[in-house]
Amino acid sequence: MKTIPPFPAPTRRRLEKTARAAVRAAYAPYSKFPVGSAVLAGSGKIYSGCNVENASYGLCNCAERTAVFSAVAAGEREIKAVVVYTPTPLPNAPCGACRQVIHEFGPLAAVIGICDSAERIETTHDRLQPVAFGPRNLRQRRTAGAR
Ligand code: THU
Repeated sequence: MKTIPPFPAPTRRRLEKTARAAVRAAYAPYSKFPVGSAVLAGSGKIYSGCNVENASYGLCNCAERTAVFSAVAAGEREIKAVVVYTPTPLPNAPCGACRQVIHEFGPLAAVIGICDSAERIETTHDRLQPVAFGPRNLRQRRTAGAR
């Protein structure tokens, strides 16, 4: 997998540390698959998130979306990087729903997957979701076809 564009090493270390710490708050009694996430926002601040499951399974919220929503709720509107940590031998990338949410605020965001081995995923959002639907699509003028 390709490496992401240059990213300050201390920021990256802080992001990864935050994602690893965030997994402790994971609420995953059904899947028993805890996930931690950290997001670097436009202001330079880091926001964390964990997965939050629900007895009504379809309402489970992933760690990445929790982190992005926390950033947005704090007033951020730009996401520069997303880290996802799983306590597994192999790293994981964000699911499709999370990719769509990341696209809204960070179409070019760095995406890093880390785990409990040296394996890692280092990519960018646009590589994960190259032909995404986003705000720009909604800004198009409507043609006569819409009746
Ligand atoms: N999950 C995440 O938090 N992030 C991902 O990228 C994939 C999956 C969560 C959702 C659910 O709580 C559990 O992992 C199993 O799918």
